[in-house]
Amino acid sequence: MGAGYFAEPFRIKMVEPIRVLSDEERLARIEEAGFNVFNLRAEDVYIDLLTDSGTGAMSSRQWAGIMMGDESYSGARSYYNLLDSCSEIFGYRYFQPVHQGRAAEKVVMPILLGKGKVSIANMHFDTTRAHVEIAGARAIDCVVPEAEDTASEAPFKGNMDIEGLRLLVEEHGCEKVGVVIMTITNNSAGGQPVSMENIRETSKICKEYGIPFMIDAARFAENAFFIKEREPKYKDVTIEEIVMECFSYADLFTMSAKKDAIVNIGGLIGVREDAGLFEKVKAATIPLEGFISYGGLAGRDLEAMAIGLKEGIDLEYLRYRIGQSRYLGERLKESGIPFQSPAGGHAIFVDAGKLLPHIPYNEFPAQALAIELYKEAGIRACDIGSFMMGRDPDTREQLKSQFEFTRLAIPRRVYTQSHLDVVADALAEIKKRAENLRGYRITWEPEVLRHFTARLEPIK
Ligand code: F0G
Repeated sequence: MGAGYFAEPFRIKMVEPIRVLSDEERLARIEEAGFNVFNLRAEDVYIDLLTDSGTGAMSSRQWAGIMMGDESYSGARSYYNLLDSCSEIFGYRYFQPVHQGRAAEKVVMPILLGKGKVSIANMHFDTTRAHVEIAGARAIDCVVPEAEDTASEAPFKGNMDIEGLRLLVEEHGCEKVGVVIMTITNNSAGGQPVSMENIRETSKICKEYGIPFMIDAARFAENAFFIKEREPKYKDVTIEEIVMECFSYADLFTMSAKKDAIVNIGGLIGVREDAGLFEKVKAATIPLEGFISYGGLAGRDLEAMAIGLKEGIDLEYLRYRIGQSRYLGERLKESGIPFQSPAGGHAIFVDAGKLLPHIPYNEFPAQALAIELYKEAGIRACDIGSFMMGRDPDTREQLKSQFEFTRLAIPRRVYTQSHLDVVADALAEIKKRAENLRGYRITWEPEVLRHFTARLEPIK
């Protein structure tokens, strides 16, 4: 197969009908939704690229696992199956299931952080940042400068800025740094990968200063694929070996299993060898999530996760998976749509700031583009820009985001190449009338996390 793309390593056994509403209906729906895609009914969406989280299609083996789930309150077989999968893949001693990624953060952050402490990450995902702050600490991002240039084709734009990390540790004092987090892949920078070398260097600094090193592992398998492909030393190393090495450098991880473990709900905490730390994790999990052998999930969910974790690291699957975002990226390049390049693992982050330079940040260019995509073809994407960023909590001024991205996140094993063509064609159409697009103003918003529920109107 020299076609430059990797066709699906599966065939489709069950289908779920989707439909595209008429132009008039879509206009009415988005207006009723207050020009906020989160307020749309999913049924009114044709191609849903809002997120790749919990939206994947499970395999026949996973569905068989669902039927085999052991629903015992304590010590279920499904729990032990999950532990077996986890030890085989990550090589850690201790694992704790939880109901999703942010639940893992809710359990772990108060153990590592408190008032006066800081957390330093290549980039904190929103919920990670929120849990750092809820724990009384401050979150500091320290990504490499290449991440900011969306046109640069640097292979590992998700990396930690190693010199920057050292300076931050020195500046705050190592006793104040409660944790260093490596988010793989780096979602907020555009699904960009982190190299093995960078993980190793970060780990070295953490060891030198005695700081716990944690991986935010939501997209660990996609990251491993990029390492294999882009880091010459790892060309002939298997994904399984890359994953094992990558996790060996950290002390613990949190994971949203809704991404690379291809389940609709689930999360994990892993602790490499620190028994004392794991005691604290268990003690916090019981009141927050439930008994340790189910952690807020049904037995069937544990079973699906045990199987999904293995399917998510299959090389053929990953070739197809990364191939999809790459294909969409190539199609967008043909029509000159700017995006964070190279294409990310789970999504294309369209540079709406560049596509719509006449719309200022406080009129939300990335939101304007997301709305236009719905109006054009019933596609749902979301703003990762100033609209999401919100206001300064003290002055209530609108903050200016570093990026104005419209994210097209691709669910796993759900859409075909033809669906991706619809997305690329819609964006090409929109580009032709880009200068006519207008910004938006907010007519109602809540105090916190406003982008989920705010209502907007177009600026005339
Ligand atoms: N960490 C990263 C890097 C994430 O991308 C997410 C979720 C989480 C943690 C939290 O996990 O949703 O299971 O509680 N990201 C989703 C997204 C929501 O759309 O990017 P969760």
